[in-house]
Parts: sequence; C-alpha cells; structure tokens
Amino acid sequence: MPMNEVRHLITWNDWKPEEIRELIDFAIFVKNNRVFFSGHMQGRTMAMLFQKTSTRTRVSFEAGMTEIGGHAIYLDWISSNFMLSDIDFEAEYLSRNVSVIMARMKKHEDLLILKSGSKVPVINGCCNLFHPCQALADILTIKLDRNKLEGTHLCYVGVHNNVVNSLIGITSACGMHLTLVTPIANKESIVDSVVEKAKERGTISWETDIRKAIKDCDYLYTDTWVDMEFFYDPAFAAAKKERIEMMMPYQINSELLKYTKAKIMHDMPIHAGFEITREVVQSDRSIIFQQAENRLDAQKAIILKLLGTK
Ligand code: CP
Repeated sequence: MPMNEVRHLITWNDWKPEEIRELIDFAIFVKNNRVFFSGHMQGRTMAMLFQKTSTRTRVSFEAGMTEIGGHAIYLDWISSNFMLSDIDFEAEYLSRNVSVIMARMKKHEDLLILKSGSKVPVINGCCNLFHPCQALADILTIKLDRNKLEGTHLCYVGVHNNVVNSLIGITSACGMHLTLVTPIANKESIVDSVVEKAKERGTISWETDIRKAIKDCDYLYTDTWVDMEFFYDPAFAAAKKERIEMMMPYQINSELLKYTKAKIMHDMPIHAGFEITREVVQSDRSIIFQQAENRLDAQKAIILKLLGTK
C-alpha cells in the first residue's frame, strides 16, 4: 500500500493473509496487555454510524475506544442528517472531526460511498455482504481456545449470509477449513470472488448431510435464519415462516451434539428455539459468550492497527 494512503477495513479480501494473521496475534497481545494500551487513543474520537440495530458492535466499539483512552460518538442514521443528504458529503464532514469511522450500513454499495468521502479509516460494522469485525473475534476466540488455527476445521450450519462471507475470507487466510451446510444460499448473498479465492486455496467445502459435516469438525457455528432488519417486518412474515420450516432440521440441539465433539459458536443475537436451543447455548460445549466478549479485544486491535499504533 502506498505511503499516506488511508487504510480501511471493509472486507478481509482487501487484506493480505499475513496481515490478517498478524492482526489476530496483535488482538491476543491487546487482550493480554489491556493496561498497556489504556492511553493510546487519548484525544481521538470515533464516529459510530448505525443504519441498523446493534448490541455487541456498538458496545464493544464504544467500550473499546474508552479503554484505549479515546471517545466514541453514537450516530443513529435516522436522527442524523445522513438520511437527508449525500452519504459521501456527510462522511467527508465527519472525517474532518474524527479519527476513525465505524459504520453499520444496510447496503455494501452505500458503505463504499461513505468510504469514498472519508479522509480517515472506515470500519465495516456489518453490511449486507460482510461482517469482518465479527469474523475477527470468531477466529481470535478459536486461537485463544486452541492455540493454533492452521488445519482447524470449522463447520457453519445455517443460511449463507454476511457472517459467512467474512468467515470464508478469514479462514482461508489462516489455513483453516470451512465446511458450509447452507440449505439457503441466495445468489445475492454470495460474493463469488471470496468463494473463488477460498476454492483456489482448498479451504472451503459444502455438505448437505449435517451429521457427516459435523462429525470431525472442531467448531460448529450457527447464526440467525432471518436478517435482523427483517425479523419483525410484517412484509417478511410469510418468507420468515417458510425459512423457519425449511431450516428446522438444521437446528443445533442436544440430539445433534451426540454426533460431534465440536465446541459451539454463535455470533449473537440468538433466537433460542430456532437456529439453536437454549440448552445448547448454556451447555459446557458452548463458547458463545467468550466469542461475544472477544469482540471488545478484536475491535481495539482493529482501531489501533488502522490508526497506526505499534
Ligand atoms: N454479532 C453482532 O454484530 O451483534 P450486534 O448485531 O448486536 O452488534
């Protein structure tokens, strides 16, 4: 990358595999040395723009910025003037006041417009196609749990979504193997370039038989069957019912766990009784809450990296 060019985190596909692996190790260092980084962002501000709801992304970025000595401003899309004006103009204004922008946008194209206007790093806080910050915390959790990534087998069971696209990119960079059991994989949710790169590296496969897929995996991951913005949308009610009926045989439950020794992951929010049962979430096999906690360290590592802290 040329000197002085602003670095962003939009998708892992924009980063070299060695940079991603270094960032994971840096996040572990950040986690183990919380006090060391306490003043690194003193006097610096992050703008956090949300077009969709959030618990973890908002809390972990805001708490993370506080812990490293900076400040975070929460901007709700509908109560800011982003909803009235051109996204790139509003982004350019923001970047003249803050050191970094984190944005959760509905459409990936709008995130790219925001990035085009910004003079400071932009972090993708989850768009329709990617959720890189979540995937970083996921792989950080596996590395902390297992102390190695290469050769580790992760199996994702659910709908092909933004989290899956980011998992494909990051597992591929880390030499892990990702098996997808994704009965619903709409064309518009799949990013072909990401899949092709993983195929070239031989790090991805698909399986329709869930018991076969989970038999030898180390980690079993699931996610919501319905995207957050549609969950309570009456216009999506019929499609939601259809999805639930189709996906119910793929629920992660105690019966299914008899066929694997894998640890259980979920990026939250959880819809207990749908993609996973409450019993499994609270079982000894679950590392879901460690995974969610690790968002904090992943976020801090991303901010420190993008703003050039060694
Ligand atoms: N996993 C995740 O991004 O959580 P939130 O939607 O609550 O931020």
